Amino acid sequence: MNISKKMNKIGQSPIRKFNPFAIKAEKEGKKIYRLNIGQPDIETPSCFMDAVNNFHEKVIAYSESGGETVLQDAISNYFKAYGMSYTRDDIMITNGGSEALSMVFTSILDPGDEVIIAEPFYTNYHTFVTAAGGNIVPITTKAEDGYDYADAELIESAVTGKTRAIACINPGNPTGRVLTKQDMELIAEIAVKHDLWIIADEVYREFAYDGNEITSFGMLSNVADRVIIIDSVSKRFSACGARVGCLISKNKDIMECALKIAQGRLCCPTLDQIGAAALYNIDRSYYADVKKEYEGRRDAVYEELMKIPGIVCRKPGGSFYIMAKLPIDDVEDFLMYLLTEFEDNGETVMFSPAEGFYATEGLGKNEIRIAYVLKQDDMRRGAQLIRLGLEKYKAR
Ligand SMILES: Cc1ncc(COP(=O)(O)O)c(C=O)c1O
Repeated sequence: MNISKKMNKIGQSPIRKFNPFAIKAEKEGKKIYRLNIGQPDIETPSCFMDAVNNFHEKVIAYSESGGETVLQDAISNYFKAYGMSYTRDDIMITNGGSEALSMVFTSILDPGDEVIIAEPFYTNYHTFVTAAGGNIVPITTKAEDGYDYADAELIESAVTGKTRAIACINPGNPTGRVLTKQDMELIAEIAVKHDLWIIADEVYREFAYDGNEITSFGMLSNVADRVIIIDSVSKRFSACGARVGCLISKNKDIMECALKIAQGRLCCPTLDQIGAAALYNIDRSYYADVKKEYEGRRDAVYEELMKIPGIVCRKPGGSFYIMAKLPIDDVEDFLMYLLTEFEDNGETVMFSPAEGFYATEGLGKNEIRIAYVLKQDDMRRGAQLIRLGLEKYKAR
């Protein structure tokens, strides 16, 4: 039977495709430090469960396609505290940020249309854009340059007659790059000049370290009609399994189009939305505490990684990922070695090979992405296992 050409272009997620080997190793009794996926070990705030426990309707009915109003209002208030004003009509609740991204690309792309994004980028953009019929046009960034891409010449050289949008993951996954206000103003100027959408994927908004300011494209009023914000409870509130996110825009056309898709899939899970509303209403001191925790984890893993001879790695300014270039040719082969042969005191480690985070053929084969989502000691041990594993792998 036929599978579409566009879907045949997409590979498996590098974040998850080594899972079967990890599960096998675990069955054999090995402990694995899972640094491959952005699944934090931080407890989901209890207000989520409390809100669900206090749901006393006799029927779990469909909710509105655009989302539960109690959640839309909580999100609206959350943004108000950052000086951004969004009404219920501007906020569409989605099944995670992932569905919001799929909706956006389905809404704005015709076959062959292009989306500009800095690489390395969150690998699932391959799936979202390609499944919508579009193509990614990457701007290549490097650790050595701080993963900077806010450069007019660089961005404009990627613009063609088919470009429809520039997507900015800020703070960056996997680079940790945090855009400054000036960076965003420059990108906004280019978007206006070439009539592009700005897709602002800000699911890591609060995770900006070292005194980095929290920035949002929603703060730029001159591009309000072309900005589409992607938000999610997954990372901020450590609630990945709740599958609640949203798509936010003041542009009526995109909201109308997204609603058509939303009506087709009926609604998001009602109970998860009730819990998510409580999360968005949380006391703001929560953000400072969580940020401090991640900052400590980042420092720990960075310090440990820098003990690996020949590693190239930049201390990230935000999100909870770190990219590292290893002194070997093929990190996938190394990861297979770690999962199937290596162990140190019955323990091994898992990361994401970074090739899938690039669109340019051949890049990322010697790079890995680590998610610093475990406690500091576990992060240190995970990085140590990479070092010990590398020593043995190279000595074979
Ligand atoms: C940059 C970015 N955007 C969107 C998502 C989607 O997350 P979710 O669907 O859990 O909200 C992720 C998940 O890792 C991400 O890293």
